[in-house]
Amino acid sequence: MSGTFITFEGGDGAGKTTQAALLEQWLEGRGLEVVRTREPGGTRLGAEVRRLLLHGGDEIGAVDARAEALLYAADRAQHVSKVVRPALDRDAVVVQDRYIDSSLAYQGAGRVLEVDEVRRISEWAAGGLWPDLTILLDIDPESSAGRRRSRGDAADRLESEDVAFHIAVREGFRALAKADPHRYFTVDATLPVDEIHTRIVGRVAGFITR
Ligand code: TYD
Repeated sequence: MSGTFITFEGGDGAGKTTQAALLEQWLEGRGLEVVRTREPGGTRLGAEVRRLLLHGGDEIGAVDARAEALLYAADRAQHVSKVVRPALDRDAVVVQDRYIDSSLAYQGAGRVLEVDEVRRISEWAAGGLWPDLTILLDIDPESSAGRRRSRGDAADRLESEDVAFHIAVREGFRALAKADPHRYFTVDATLPVDEIHTRIVGRVAGFITR
């Protein structure tokens, strides 16, 4: 396996999708094969899991915290084995919205489960695959909620959680980034889009030596 695995993390509405698209263009401009993907929902099985997790509503009732963590892990297992590893094996750059760190921040820090337990099941699901680089788009939950409202987006199940939950998630991400500055690159997500992109490219260029 010799490709490069880059993940984007951050709260809902931090601008991950915009930045992932810009990074994809930049990498392709350098002649690299890029696989843009996401969790949950990067496979056909995952799309079903995603639908249940985010839009299941009354159909599934209240979701137990362990059940939720295992559903994200099931999505991840399928995605890593069917999409991410095959792409890395053929030397591609994988640019992915959300990965293990989202489970640690949302299911661990934001809820009742122990972060280390969530890490264990997630790592098992992923067969021990960690990203080469994780870009954290850091934003306070009030600002990102404002952005979503101004886009007219409806809130999904997790986005409708209270502010305290989103603050805990943000703190979870920041603690993860602080504990692993080698893998993590944190960018202030309130900066202009171009400025964020420039900073990201500055860091990614160090990985892309081809
Ligand atoms: P996503 O579609 O990335 O939402 P957004 O585009 O708003 O950032 O992710 C869906 C939701 O799933 C998001 O609220 C975070 C949550 N999530 C977890 O709770 N655990 C996980 O392991 C993952 C991958 C996502």
